[in-house]
Amino acid sequence: MNGNWVENRDLMLELLALPSHVDRVVCPPSVYLAQVAELISGSDIQLGAQDVDWHEAGAFTGEISAAMAADVGVSYVIVGHSERRALYGEGNEVCLRKTEAVLKKGLIPIFCVGETKAERDSDETNRVIAAQLAELIEMVPLDRLMIAYEPVWAIGTGEVATPQQADNVHKHIRQLVAAKDKDAAERIQILYGGSVNAGNAAGLFAMPDIDGALVGGASLKAKDFSSICCATTEE
Ligand code: PGA
Repeated sequence: MNGNWVENRDLMLELLALPSHVDRVVCPPSVYLAQVAELISGSDIQLGAQDVDWHEAGAFTGEISAAMAADVGVSYVIVGHSERRALYGEGNEVCLRKTEAVLKKGLIPIFCVGETKAERDSDETNRVIAAQLAELIEMVPLDRLMIAYEPVWAIGTGEVATPQQADNVHKHIRQLVAAKDKDAAERIQILYGGSVNAGNAAGLFAMPDIDGALVGGASLKAKDFSSICCATTEE
């Protein structure tokens, strides 16, 4: 819940002027999707929504549907961000329904998983991640999905997972996917999120199973976001 009309325009114009060799998706609040769609039209930046409802349409006051998001130019939708899970009570079942609704409209879900500090401290990380992904891996076409590993304790806190901590979980996620579909496991993009910034991005991207980042705070400054993009090692 950041940004406004003028700030979005300035941020996007600055971002559009900076070079990048990687896939970039920007996910503004839903009320600004159409504004940002227009600003990035003709560029290689793609549009994502932060959330959608899982119903197709109807009496769901305040919500937006996957069809509405697609209608204004969205290609990606974040599903199950930890703030949605923790603050709005979205559990695995809702996240799965949302994922299915997003896929049905031809959009790509960015499905977020992550453990709390207490879960990490009691060595529960892998079990929690596996539980968050179990149904998804069984029910959804794995070649049309991105997964974001976002340890809850690292989001917006300035406390980033070490590259090794993050990579261990990414490896675990890839193994969970591989148990269902080996080819999809090689291709699936697993993003790390949680206090990624211009200073720590290169270390994270250097790890074999980290394919990209889901950036919150640092994406609000075009130069920081661009430095993160430039820190990637592969085309
Ligand atoms: P952060 O946010 O980069 O500010 O930690 C990440 C997120 O909200 O997913």
